[in-house]
This record gives sequence, C-alpha cells and structure tokens, in this order.
Amino acid sequence: MSLANSTIVILGGSSGIGLATARAAIAEGAQVTITGRSPDRLETAKAALGNRAKGVALDVLDQAGTERLFTELGRIDHVFITAGAVLFDPGLGVELDSIRPALETRFWGAFNAAKFAASKIPPGGSITFMSGAAAIRPIRGASVATASCAAVEAFARALALDLAPVRVNAVQPGLIDTPFLDTLGARRDAFIAEYAKRLPVGRPGRPEEVADAVLFLMKNGFVTGITLTIDGGGVLT
Ligand SMILES: NC(=O)c1ccc[n+]([C@@H]2O[C@H](COP(=O)([O-])OP(=O)(O)OC[C@H]3O[C@@H](n4cnc5c(N)ncnc54)[C@H](OP(=O)(O)O)[C@@H]3O)[C@@H](O)[C@H]2O)c1
Repeated sequence: MSLANSTIVILGGSSGIGLATARAAIAEGAQVTITGRSPDRLETAKAALGNRAKGVALDVLDQAGTERLFTELGRIDHVFITAGAVLFDPGLGVELDSIRPALETRFWGAFNAAKFAASKIPPGGSITFMSGAAAIRPIRGASVATASCAAVEAFARALALDLAPVRVNAVQPGLIDTPFLDTLGARRDAFIAEYAKRLPVGRPGRPEEVADAVLFLMKNGFVTGITLTIDGGGVLT
C-alpha cells in the first residue's frame, strides 16, 4: 500500500519518533498533520517538514479538541498516537492524582483518537498506538507507566477486531535516542551508554528506525492486531 497522496495524522508529532515518522511519510508523498501541546515546538517542526505538513496545538487528553481535529479533517488514511507520559513512582504508596497522567495520557489519548478517527478511515487504513519495551521488561520504579504500555497493546488487539477492516496495531520501541531522554538531565549520556552495553546491537535506537516500523504498519494491509518490537534485541537480554 503506497502512502503517496495519503493523509496521516500524528498525535505527538512535533519531536522524536513522531517527527521522524512525519518526515518519513512526507518523503513517501503523504500529507501529514502533527499535533503537540507546545505551539513553539510545533512551529519548529512544521518549518522542518515543509508545506506538506500542518500543525495543530492539542493535548491528547483534550477530548473536545480531538473531536474537532478529526471532524475538520476530511478523509484520514492513517493515525499514529505517540503521546505518552512516563512518570516514575515510588511504588504503591504514590498519590493517585500524581500518577494518573502516566496511564491516562497513553491510554485515554489512544482511546480519544480512535473514537473520533475510526469512522473517517477507509478499509485497510490504520491506527497505530505507542507502547514501549517496558511492557515486556518493566522499568523499575515506573509500574504505572509500564502498565500503560501493556494496556495500549491489548487495546490494539481488541480494536483490530472491533474496527475491522480498519487495522489497529502497536509499536513497542526499546531505548530510542530522542529529546525525551533529555528529562534524565546530566545522567542522560551515562544512562544511554550503560543501557546500550546490554543490547545485542550495542547502541540505542534512532527515531528513524521506529518511524520505519510505523510506516510498515501503515502500508502492509495484511498486518493488524500486532505489537511490533523495535528494540535492538533488548527483550532478549
Ligand atoms: N524515546 C524512547 O526511548 C522511548 C521508548 C519507548 C517508548 N517511547 C514512547 O514514545 C513516545 C514518544 O517519545 P519520543 O521519544 O519521541 O519523545 P519526544 O521526543 O519527547 O516527543 C514526544 C512528542 O509527543 C508530544 N506530546 C507529549 N505529551 C503530549 C500530550 N499530552 N498531548 C499531545 N502531544 C504530546 C510532544 O510534544 P509536546 O511536549 O509539545 O506536547 C512531542 O511532540 C512516548 O509515548 C514515549 O513513552 C519512547
């Protein structure tokens, strides 16, 4: 299935994996709408992507805004939802309100997008959710964020049945070198180096490598209900 002249929406597309996916899709002839919360980040991304990209400032948890976005767009061929908060928690003693975003952004963000996009996607089109290798190899101290990854994987399998012939999949990256890792501050480089040592490929992934996997999920009309792992062999070690 070609992406030429297709319309793609990437929720969380102004940085990292989403931005790399937008760039790769545009290179294959798609029109892309990206979203993100920060208007400045969106402007920078749009300038980098050129005139086949539109940007809309939107939080994935904004249900009314998500409905408006998909209502205003005409036909949509593929949707990719990358937004997902990763919060660290001190265990089960955590205050519920402080940890809610770790589950809600990834899960209800995915739900909102699917809810308002599904009826606009033609047979064979697709929705892709963002999971993470933590679903298989949990991150110590991030149990809720870890559970959110497993939740969207199961959601993808369930929706692959409910929304058929629209296809629904999840992508499950391992450690990918994106601005997301800047949240580690001064520990960033040491963390990446330590993590990379145990990977069979010996390095973190690049956002373009995940983008390539997402484009595969969009283009292969026989693929639905799967989780595609892109982790440099990390789940093996
Ligand atoms: N990098 C990794 O190692 C890795 C591994 C596994 C899974 N993941 C997952 O991959 C996803 C993308 O990560 P990344 O590495 O590409 O990070 P990134 O470079 O920080 O990009 C995140 C993107 O999502 C947007 N975003 C975040 N929260 C949002 C919200 N509530 N509503 C709308 N947009 C939102 C950000 O824009 P604004 O901040 O302006 O909203 C930005 O465009 C995340 O879900 C992350 O958990 C990353």
